[in-house]
Amino acid sequence: MMNTQTPVRDVAGGHPRIWSVLERFGIDYCCSGGQSLQAACAQRGIPADEVLAEIAQVLQGPNSGPDLGRLSLSELADYVERIHHDYLKSELPSLRARLRKVIEAHAAEHPEVVELGQIFDDFADEMESHMMKEERMLFPAIRQMESGGGGMPLEGPVEVMLAEHRSADMALARMRELTQGFTPPEDACNTYRSLYQGLADLDRDMRRHVHTENDILFPAALRG
Ligand SMILES: [Fe+2]
Ligand SMILES: [Fe+2]
Repeated sequence: MMNTQTPVRDVAGGHPRIWSVLERFGIDYCCSGGQSLQAACAQRGIPADEVLAEIAQVLQGPNSGPDLGRLSLSELADYVERIHHDYLKSELPSLRARLRKVIEAHAAEHPEVVELGQIFDDFADEMESHMMKEERMLFPAIRQMESGGGGMPLEGPVEVMLAEHRSADMALARMRELTQGFTPPEDACNTYRSLYQGLADLDRDMRRHVHTENDILFPAALRG
């Protein structure tokens, strides 16, 4: 049973409904997920009991949603590809295009969008190659291992993926910083607003994506 001393990533577990609660409170369950719920709440000035009470509430009722921790490894890999990789593949090019327009029109009065564009471009390029490695090498190896077919050792490739997740997390942190938490300026046009909304959605989706791989799929695959 979870309590205030449970690490945030274990509180989050495989329950998207719990993720939503943590997101609402602004608690990072992904790359800072190693700290206890108590510590994460103290940092944000939130009573940990309140968070636990909300979590208990969303888990009640017949419709408490999926528990990804119950999926097989192959099902989890399929889920990540269907939910997160497909999302990135459709969203990254459209965000790139919006960013370009915003830079062209607003770099003079809002120079921070230039650095935002550079960080985003590097992030998008890295994520595209990262997903390709997962889809072509790591996930097939995980599926093969689960079906009893042996296959390549997973430790090395998983280490590389973890390092790339950390680098993506740093890029997102810099994007949050440059945009005051994705808050558009008062005078922002529609494209500008839709760009920042899109980046905020990307940030949330990446936490869910990386948490699912780092804390559910990869540890289970390494346990074999
Ligand atoms: Fe992925
Ligand atoms: Fe990944």
